[in-house]
Amino acid sequence: MTGNVPRHVAIIMDGNGRWANSKRKPRLAGHRAGVKSVRASVETATQRGVEYLTLFAFSSENWSRPEEEVSSLMDLFVEALRREVDELHRNNVRLNFIGLLDELSSGLREKIRQSEETTANNTGLRLTVAIAYGGRWDIVEASKAVARRVLDGSLQVDEIGDAEFASGLQLSTIPDPDLLIRTGGEQRISNFLLWNLAYAELWFTDVLWPEFDEKVFDEALSFFAAKQRRFGHTGDQVEAVEC
Ligand code: IPE
Ligand code: IPE
Ligand code: MG
Repeated sequence: MTGNVPRHVAIIMDGNGRWANSKRKPRLAGHRAGVKSVRASVETATQRGVEYLTLFAFSSENWSRPEEEVSSLMDLFVEALRREVDELHRNNVRLNFIGLLDELSSGLREKIRQSEETTANNTGLRLTVAIAYGGRWDIVEASKAVARRVLDGSLQVDEIGDAEFASGLQLSTIPDPDLLIRTGGEQRISNFLLWNLAYAELWFTDVLWPEFDEKVFDEALSFFAAKQRRFGHTGDQVEAVEC
């Protein structure tokens, strides 16, 4: 891999159910197989020098799935944390979770708390997992935070700008994603990081999440490396700054 490496990669890990269907297995088998791809994405991100990796594991809308699928997914999150956190810690990964975590079982919340605490001082890849997360919910919560500051007098309405607003978002302490990857063939955001993805490069692949590996990740990184990011400027302006 050569060229620009994105500092922050966000991934919508989609296609587990279809992968399982194609193998005549239950959907849960697809979710289980997806854990291996999470491991591969963490390893590749680390090796390529990505600083932040944010994974969409469960959306606020995914609560509407059949109860059995939801509860086995929750069990799988607990199991995956039990099995993976030591290795992540050895690899200097700092793990964080975003989303409406209050809605999760106390057992899962406790595992999340422990894994964040164990890895809190690590200085390598910053891995954020979004569970029970919705982009609209995130924006509504940030709006409430800013409204509270106005009510308590610490902020004037006219002082609210991008930065003041974004300080109330779940990912307030890390830079916006540079690259969004979505597996599973759909080309939509599905209520992921609505605010933060404003200027992300978007890369979609038909590969189903359980088949995501280093090679597919590298394809996405090559796509990114070839992009000129203009942020509203002209191409000539960007080239003038680059020279
Ligand atoms: C993504 O795979 C995992 C979650 C949303 C939890 P899906 O379960 O959505 O897989 P498909 O889209 O049905 O194939
Ligand atoms: C998006 O996948 C959410 C996650 C990957 C966690 P979905 O499978 O829920 O998205 P839709 O329903 O196809 O938009
Ligand atoms: Mg899906």
